[in-house]
Amino acid sequence: MLSFKTVTAAVALSALAAGCSGGGSETSDTGPGPAEAASPPVESGPPAADDVATLDGVAYASLTGDAAAGKSAFMQCRTCHVTDPGMNRTGPSLAGIVGHKAGSVSGFRYTEANANSGIIWTEEKLFQFLEKPQRVIPKTKMIFAGMPDAQKRADVIAYLKNPN
Ligand code: HEC
Repeated sequence: MLSFKTVTAAVALSALAAGCSGGGSETSDTGPGPAEAASPPVESGPPAADDVATLDGVAYASLTGDAAAGKSAFMQCRTCHVTDPGMNRTGPSLAGIVGHKAGSVSGFRYTEANANSGIIWTEEKLFQFLEKPQRVIPKTKMIFAGMPDAQKRADVIAYLKNPN
């Protein structure tokens, strides 16, 4: 990466100039070392449709969802969604949502942001989305801050795979 090399060189130069109070001022906002410069804390738009990385760093595969617990956790969703096929409320029916293309429940009026997201609702993508929906689809009209608890997200997904 060019920027990494440039910053690394600049940091090396400023190290040479250590002790000189004016030296290295051009690197003052790049952090103390190459490790930080390599991963700038800049949020640049939503993750790609096939990017399933979470903010909390938890891997979906490391968890086992409990559908019964998920049914209770789904109470948070139930003000806007049901799992009965064809029953759209404030949000679309979530019957069969796992594995389906985003924006494809018939009869529901989606935002373009949701409809054109290019997302397939794999379990991993749902896991990422439910953590903070507005990060994954910035212009969604789903007014829900998210579920920071990774286990609860896995539970809800287990429930959505086989709602009852
Ligand atoms: C305040 C209402 C509200 C709540 C609460 C809510 N949603 Fe939504 N949800 C929506 C709306 C509205 C949309 C459609 C978004 C759009 O078109 O931009 C949506 C979209 C979705 C989608 C995408 C559906 C598709 O077909 O692409 C999923 C998945 C989803 N919600 C899951 C959930 C889950 C799971 C919960 C609970 C953890 C939840 N939502 C809580 C209103 C809500």
